[in-house]
Amino acid sequence: MAKADTTDYVLYKRVLKYFLSSWGAVIVAALGNIFCAASDAYATYLFKPLLDKGFIDKSIHFMAILPFIIIGIFIVRGVGSFFSSFYMGFLSKKIVMVLRQEMFSHIMRLPAKFFDQSASARLLSKLTYNVDQIIQATGATFQILVQQSFFLLGLIIVMLLNSWHLTLLIFLALPFLVSFVRFVSQRFRKLSRRIQNAMGNVMHSAEESIIGYREVRIFGGEAQQIRQFNHNVTYNFVQEMKVTLTNALNSPIIQLFCSFILALVIYLALRPTAMSPGSFISMLTAMLAAFKPIRDLSQVSSSIQRGLAAAEGIFELLDEEPEQDHGTQELGRISGQMCLKNISFRYQADSDLVLKEINLDIPAGKTVAFVGRSGSGKTTLISLLTRFYEATEGVIYLDQVNIQDLKLKNLRQHFAMVSQHVCLFDDSIYNNIAYGDTEGASEEAVIQALKAAHAWEFVEKMPQGLKTLVGENGYNLSGGQRQRLAIARAILKDAPILILDEATSALDNESERAVQQALEVLRQNRTILVIAHRLSTIEKADLIVVLDQGRIVEQGSHQALLEHDGVYAQLHSSASFS
Ligand SMILES: Nc1ncnc2c1ncn2[C@@H]1O[C@H](COP(=O)(O)OP(=O)(O)O)[C@@H](O)[C@H]1O
Ligand SMILES: [Mg+2]
Repeated sequence: MAKADTTDYVLYKRVLKYFLSSWGAVIVAALGNIFCAASDAYATYLFKPLLDKGFIDKSIHFMAILPFIIIGIFIVRGVGSFFSSFYMGFLSKKIVMVLRQEMFSHIMRLPAKFFDQSASARLLSKLTYNVDQIIQATGATFQILVQQSFFLLGLIIVMLLNSWHLTLLIFLALPFLVSFVRFVSQRFRKLSRRIQNAMGNVMHSAEESIIGYREVRIFGGEAQQIRQFNHNVTYNFVQEMKVTLTNALNSPIIQLFCSFILALVIYLALRPTAMSPGSFISMLTAMLAAFKPIRDLSQVSSSIQRGLAAAEGIFELLDEEPEQDHGTQELGRISGQMCLKNISFRYQADSDLVLKEINLDIPAGKTVAFVGRSGSGKTTLISLLTRFYEATEGVIYLDQVNIQDLKLKNLRQHFAMVSQHVCLFDDSIYNNIAYGDTEGASEEAVIQALKAAHAWEFVEKMPQGLKTLVGENGYNLSGGQRQRLAIARAILKDAPILILDEATSALDNESERAVQQALEVLRQNRTILVIAHRLSTIEKADLIVVLDQGRIVEQGSHQALLEHDGVYAQLHSSASFS
């Protein structure tokens, strides 16, 4: 996995960019916060004239305008508070929306390699839980951060106005506060990272047990699954409790420290110096009032660190290298001829070669069958043709064009595929057949495709016909029915190259024969690449390619290979194709 740059500066800058993309809202929210903070600070400053002019001088004029000043302060505060709450809410919700959209469209562009290595539940956890943490860290938190910082600033100004040398004394305590806050923040960040990973694990273990509930029950794995799930949830709980503990200790420690300063300042201020009673009370009020912003600021630190840890996880995903798509050429309708030159392939840089020096000509419009033991590399070879993986060495040509030079979207338009693991979407049969490139196809066309795939016979009988919902991944259907729907989808796409990777493995003999007949018709004008385990399909192929441990060991027609009496003949006699 790509490691996101976690140095704090880069992280802050990147998070900030999301805020600044709605800079208007940021300014309005910040102004609102500043108005709130300024009116709060001014209210404490008011104690000085209140005592000095009101109680001591008994100024009639001041006493007359005081009520208006108070109402004025609350009007300014109210307006400021509205704009800050509303626009901060807007900002945090918008950032969440934008992040989710960015993450999802990025996931759609990630290579097969990424999906091999990432558990889907962990991805989903990022898309939901991590992003939600950002809301927590932006909404109220940001408001507190801006408002309380400005309030604190205002209070400091009030203190400075009353007594600058006492205020400077307070500043001497600052280094302690800063280093304490930094220590606590780092701890929060570390714990938040753990919590987010733990959340991914929680989702992962739940997903596995839910999807595999049959295996869990039959093999008596309930206790094991529960143990694993509980372990993950408990770990999450322990980390959350550490956050809670740190949070709970955080404020009292800071406040205790502040009380020392307060005591010292009061002791010094009460000495017979030139401080007026008004100044003294105003100073004291400002200092007491400073407890709240200091406490609030130290408390939001946990939400902010949570948000930053969440952002790290999100950026890590956004920084994953997308599929290489540097090709510029586009081909129109192709003949379907392919040529593999010296192809070698390994899944990971440090693993063994899965395909070794493959040289192969796939003639246009012919049917080519790939056979070989399970694990010999048939599926892998097919995946290279559509660039799900990039060949480690060698070049693949489609109609004489290097497939690297084609736009990915264009390359894949020329293929239809029924894969080993059929994927159906939780939607109607119609929407599963007329999917993607064929979206919006007419019902007749869909029915034609279903008929060709011998799927219409069971779809027709369903009470809702084409509108029948197939359930999550087609769970409401049998394995053979799922395969026939996948074949219909491929037939409707009508692409020049059709890939069938064990596409008929779940069919009974009779349906398979029927589908074979349909494929006979399709063979007329397209290239078909078929991996099959049944002899009948293979025998009729124009070319049979025999793979063994990643190498092509034999190729030719059924008859020729039998006469050759090699690996194919052996496989054929034991009928152990896979
Ligand atoms: N996504 C993957 N990551 C790593 N190794 C894989 C992956 N898919 C398959 N392999 C390995 O590559 C080899 C060939 O697999 P595959 O092409 O699926 O064989 P076949 O389709 O002939 O049964 C096997 O050893 C398998 O373990
Ligand atoms: Mg396979």
